[in-house]
Amino acid sequence: MPASLLKLGVNIDHVATLREARYRDRAHGEPDPVAAALACEAAGAHGITAHLREDRRHILDRDVVALRRSIRTRLNLEMALAPEIVEIAVGVKPDIVCLVPERRQEVTTEGGLDVVAQFEAVASVCARMRVAGIEVSLFIAPDLAQIEAAGRTGAQFIELHTGAYAERVQEGAGVEQELQRLAAGAALARSVGLRVNAGHGLTVSNLPALLAKVPHMEELNIGHSLVSRAVFVGLPQSVKEFLEVMRDYRLGPSSS
Ligand code: PXP
Repeated sequence: MPASLLKLGVNIDHVATLREARYRDRAHGEPDPVAAALACEAAGAHGITAHLREDRRHILDRDVVALRRSIRTRLNLEMALAPEIVEIAVGVKPDIVCLVPERRQEVTTEGGLDVVAQFEAVASVCARMRVAGIEVSLFIAPDLAQIEAAGRTGAQFIELHTGAYAERVQEGAGVEQELQRLAAGAALARSVGLRVNAGHGLTVSNLPALLAKVPHMEELNIGHSLVSRAVFVGLPQSVKEFLEVMRDYRLGPSSS
């Protein structure tokens, strides 16, 4: 089986959160999320993820435009199903968009996008992105009904929501069960033709068990823990620490 590289997408939202804490409504401010993205790329990150929220609480429109112009790896734009943001995405042309829930009614009980309840809306955004040449990923919980529905939307990827797994690790209970749910979700996704990413709540300490148990993952999107660690060691070192943990992951037999 050939070695398949597990990619790291760095979510830079929290760099913008820090800027907005001081420079809200100003044209400039520090730290600059674009400079952070470039530092992550230089350290080996395979992509940059940013969430343009409807309330613009961290990443701003100008950040997305500047990221598109500046970065050399892939730009993954996280976004809600909101028409305004869909138009921005089509204009900016990220490599991929990840559709995420922002409003209560878009969220499943487990925190991912409710693809079952919003099938038509999700499929219509997928169709729009396809015409624009932008790939689509759906951020969903490892719920088999959601994954089965995702397979019919026209999306190319799902991003498995690992937030519940991270919570179970912190609580010290139910970890194995959650890993099994993620593994089953990844397998189902592959069987319905979806490619698999994962993210939310991942840390250098909870990653090894996830990597040991969950097959088929192509990219991990990591933000909070990576940026938190960077406060002490800097972004390049923090990126390298995550890459080191991810280094030996293999996609699994059915992906070779
Ligand atoms: N993936 C998605 C879809 C997210 O919304 C987030 C959080 O913004 C992440 C990954 C990264 O999560 P964390 O910041 O907990 O690493």
